[in-house]
Amino acid sequence: MNILVTGGAGFIGANFCEYELKRHPEDRLICLDALTYAGNLASLEGPLKAENFTFIRGDIADRAMVDALFEAEKPDIVVNFAAETHVDRSVTDPEVFLRTNVMGTQALMDACRKHGVKRFHQVGTDEVYGDLPLDRPDLFFTEETPLHASSPYSASKASADLLVLAYARTFGLPVSVSRCSNNYGPYQFPEKLIPLMITRALSDQSLPVYGKGENVRDWLYVEDHCAAIDLVMRLGREGEVYNIGGHNEKTNIDVVKTILAELDKPESLIAFVTDRPGHDRRYAIDPAKIHRELGWLPQTDFADGIRRTVRWYLEHRKWWGDILAGEYQDYYRRMYDRR
Ligand code: NAD
Ligand code: TYD
Repeated sequence: MNILVTGGAGFIGANFCEYELKRHPEDRLICLDALTYAGNLASLEGPLKAENFTFIRGDIADRAMVDALFEAEKPDIVVNFAAETHVDRSVTDPEVFLRTNVMGTQALMDACRKHGVKRFHQVGTDEVYGDLPLDRPDLFFTEETPLHASSPYSASKASADLLVLAYARTFGLPVSVSRCSNNYGPYQFPEKLIPLMITRALSDQSLPVYGKGENVRDWLYVEDHCAAIDLVMRLGREGEVYNIGGHNEKTNIDVVKTILAELDKPESLIAFVTDRPGHDRRYAIDPAKIHRELGWLPQTDFADGIRRTVRWYLEHRKWWGDILAGEYQDYYRRMYDRR
């Protein structure tokens, strides 16, 4: 089978390419990525050596290019990771989120219709459901929870999900959607909580925790997410949504303290800073459907996953050092200097 992976040079996409090449060496992967600030060919070092892997630089919203690519590569499955993904950036510059996450998804689906693609899988997020109160640990997001996005990022992802399901109903496009909780692991860009804290702690820099650090996220090791997407895009029912999460809720402050303990660094590095506007309080996924229908269960618990992640960042200083040396410095100043 020919599988088109969009956004494959990003965090989850790169992990997914590695996962697919290992699990399904009989398939051919074509990776399409615009290499925005978040895309990095250094994350695809392994896949780029494989004969059945092709990298193409391009924008999913570029219709002419996308059409020509489908004509040439004839994908059977398209799995769409390509997106603008950082909530804080969506607060300062929402427009590109709409262009890539909504218009880009539509451009891909139009090409899928024209070229008779057998499955379009949309990689979605639990953030489309909005948030849950901190004092109701009995509540979880199910696939039936109404969409209630809080940030321009989550609103753009919710729009994309609606469009995907509308293409299924209106045009009969064979689609599936997965909505996952927060991921962590190798190759995550150091603007997101866990790699930001690891890389800053390693340089003995202050760790900016928003508000009081009481917000809760439901963390999943990235390889478990890759395994779930692989199952859904191949075996999941057409037109269905699958929530992905591992019942692993942590407050931000607990996550940061765990990282400091792993690195043997002092908690005095923690600096509480002004909260994110509209900050979602708690995310928590009910993954019963994917377990029941596809037998998926997470394989990596948080203690093990965070240890492996910290070790990866310790052993790959060049990967993140190169990022930190670039325009990232400006980004950090812009986002955190007056906080
Ligand atoms: P990321 O920001 O690390 O990577 C995104 C990738 O998309 C980059 O390689 C970037 O170059 C590429 N890209 C951006 N705009 C593009 C465009 N117009 N055309 C082609 N490529 C483009 O993101 P990630 O964390 O790997 O997330 C991947 C997907 O998973 C996203 O759709 C995100 O919404 C979803 N998701 C992420 C998480 C998480 O915790 N990271 C959780 C649930 C769902
Ligand atoms: P993030 O990794 O940006 O993911 P998301 O907002 O999509 O869940 O943030 C995870 C949590 O960590 C979120 O509650 C915001 C918080 N956070 C901080 O406290 N400080 C930071 O510097 C960042 C980037 C995030």
